[in-house]
Amino acid sequence: VSAPDARVDERALRRTLGTFVTGVTVMTTTGGDGSPVGVTANSFCSVSLRPPLVLWCLARDSSSLDNFTHAGGFAVNILGEHQAALSERFATRGHPNRFEDVAFTRGVDGAPLINGCAAHLQCRTLNVAEAGDHVIIQGEVVAISDWGRPSLVFSRGGYARLRPHPHMRPLAPEPYFLTAF
Ligand SMILES: Cc1cc2nc3c(=O)[nH]c(=O)nc-3n(C[C@H](O)[C@H](O)[C@H](O)COP(=O)(O)O)c2cc1C
Repeated sequence: VSAPDARVDERALRRTLGTFVTGVTVMTTTGGDGSPVGVTANSFCSVSLRPPLVLWCLARDSSSLDNFTHAGGFAVNILGEHQAALSERFATRGHPNRFEDVAFTRGVDGAPLINGCAAHLQCRTLNVAEAGDHVIIQGEVVAISDWGRPSLVFSRGGYARLRPHPHMRPLAPEPYFLTAF
């Protein structure tokens, strides 16, 4: 608890933002040599349906910044509930090879689509805007696939699984479909 005019303490801010529950994505693209690049991000959000737009935020000090800002596109790998270890691996600074033993296919622009995810969105990068210590990467969705698996949940700095609410509308059934725009 703090007074409304108190200076926003960074640790308190992180902790408070952690109450906003999210899914977890691994954002992927390709390096200049075609090598796979990936980083864990929960700043992903939907923006517009017509046209289909999404955004996410990447730290300006990320070793992947140049790859994401120079590539023409990226893929959103929405992690399934069994992929918490992948989330941790793609969030590890200086990991020697994040893609070691990770099965993936390549999307339309070569961005890795990691096997076993809840869903994939393939995006064309529309805009990169500076915002404090991050950049906001905006993309237009060009292909989607929903694999019908339950999504991994991130809350208060830890991982969780979905559980239907006992009294409210139940979780939607998980259909399998694959669509390309
Ligand atoms: C659940 C979770 C969500 C994260 N979300 C973001 C994010 O949205 N943006 C970001 O820049 N870093 C985020 N991070 C931290 C990055 O994954 C991590 O700093 C990064 O992978 C470090 O490696 P790199 O900068 O060399 O790519 C997140 C980490 C975790 C565990």
